[in-house]
Amino acid sequence: MQKIESSSLLETEYIAKYFAASLKPYDFVAVNGPLGAGKTMFSSGIIAGKGANIVAASPSYSVMNRYDCKTVIINHFDFYRLKTVYDMENCGFFDSLEGKNITIAEWADIITVDYKKYVSGNYYNINIKIGSSEKKEKRYIEIEKIL
Ligand SMILES: Nc1ncnc2c1ncn2[C@@H]1O[C@H](COP(=O)(O)OP(=O)(O)OP(=O)(O)O)[C@@H](O)[C@H]1O
Ligand SMILES: [Mg+2]
Repeated sequence: MQKIESSSLLETEYIAKYFAASLKPYDFVAVNGPLGAGKTMFSSGIIAGKGANIVAASPSYSVMNRYDCKTVIINHFDFYRLKTVYDMENCGFFDSLEGKNITIAEWADIITVDYKKYVSGNYYNINIKIGSSEKKEKRYIEIEKIL
């Protein structure tokens, strides 16, 4: 596991862009951490790193946003409002894992699913922790390759 400290929003974006270089079609990135940790910022860094020409926003309300990047399509999900595996299926999550694209899911841990069973490419878990209250911009980013 890789553990990286981020001291600012820009640094988080930079870390995500660097990480994005290793991603290819069929890969899955689960992004976990508490409210306001920076999951959307990290995801939008990946999307920017892959050359999307628009800035990625939170898909909380839409559940999924699709980004046509330079060499790949990225489907960016947010499971915060979902309750069951059936909801995940309904929003196209499993289809996304099967398709020739990269799949990102914020709040992946909110629903109990054995993701390993469904991912055919690499599976990464990103866990973002918020630093102590004196250092409001501090984040601890863990990058774990599961598959
Ligand atoms: N080092 C940092 N990295 C990322 N974000 C930071 C950092 N320091 C402060 N922030 C702030 O934290 C907030 C992170 O917001 P973001 O929407 O990415 O969180 P989130 O984890 O997606 O939240 P949610 O659970 O609501 O989806 C932003 O307001 C950002 O400016
Ligand atoms: Mg978010």
